[in-house]
Amino acid sequence: MDKNVILRGTVVTGLGKGRYFMSAKEYKDQFISKLGIDPYHGTLNLRVDAASASELSMLKSSYGIIIEGFSREGKVFGAVKAFEASLSGVRCALVIPEKTSHTDVFELVANKNLREELSLKDGDIVEVSVSTQ
Ligand code: CDP
Repeated sequence: MDKNVILRGTVVTGLGKGRYFMSAKEYKDQFISKLGIDPYHGTLNLRVDAASASELSMLKSSYGIIIEGFSREGKVFGAVKAFEASLSGVRCALVIPEKTSHTDVFELVANKNLREELSLKDGDIVEVSVSTQ
């Protein structure tokens, strides 16, 4: 049975690394085959609300859908765990890198630019519905 959790978070700007990672074909192909999402280059970063922090920790220790890592030209692209999710009715995936220094930020991957699609800007508060199954 599907179990959904709701994560509340604030839209923030990251370090621009999402674009670099999501343009890698090795990741892209796995998002297409495992989640049916042909990712827009980049990730939407959200800072989790204190009230949703325990749900995010729970997701970090859940199985999720594994997007395998790879290496290219001596650079290691780590494995990423993904969960099917939805933001205001738009299908997306919540992604958690296996190795992450972020503690309170989570990222969304979608086949569209979510900021444009949903008129989002830094500081907006949103709720993401995440499937743990
Ligand atoms: O610069 P930052 O690390 O926040 O983001 P990025 O991964 O380089 O993505 C470029 C821009 O597209 C940022 O403004 C993201 O928030 C946005 N984005 C989005 O709105 N929807 C996506 N599915 C992916 C990225």
